Amino acid sequence: MLIRYKKNYEKIAMGLLSFMPSEKDLKRLQGTIKLYEEDQDWQLYLYKEDDIIGAIGVKIKGNEAELRHISVNPSYRGQGKGKAMLNALRNQLGNIEIKPSENTLEFFERSGDQSKEKDICEEVTGPDSN
Ligand SMILES: CC(C)(COP(=O)(O)OP(=O)(O)OC[C@H]1O[C@@H](n2cnc3c(N)ncnc32)[C@H](O)[C@@H]1OP(=O)(O)O)[C@@H](O)C(=O)NCCC(=O)NCCS
Repeated sequence: MLIRYKKNYEKIAMGLLSFMPSEKDLKRLQGTIKLYEEDQDWQLYLYKEDDIIGAIGVKIKGNEAELRHISVNPSYRGQGKGKAMLNALRNQLGNIEIKPSENTLEFFERSGDQSKEKDICEEVTGPDSN
């Protein structure tokens, strides 16, 4: 199941997000967590089975959600968890359509894009361009 990120999950969330190549730098990672804590359009969810094993984060833009982060604990990879997490988020977001960002495009395409269009969300420059 998906759990909405809260400050109590900061350590586990940072650990999971740090597996993303774009989040290797600690300052960058701290900036990303801050966005998820403070900006309503940025939504981070943790994926829990017996333990928390993954994280998935989007930036809401109108009725689209740009998939900014997806990460699964290395011990659980290759078992369909990433795909399950994406589907759980699709259910959670209802009519909001999930699109990939540059950082998640490869996984998104391999996981089966259920949207009609396959266009990548526009790259945004500026302070929130994580
Ligand atoms: C990407 C990630 C979340 C996939 O998690 P997972 O639970 O192993 O994924 P799944 O088992 O659901 O795999 C779904 C599909 O994605 C593919 N995939 C797995 N890891 C991938 C990766 N790093 N990049 C692109 N595609 C990937 C799988 O091959 C699979 O396709 P298939 O069904 O045709 O074999 C996981 O490898 C991870 O946490 N990586 C580090 C963070 C990262 O790099 N995230 C961004 C990826 S673009």
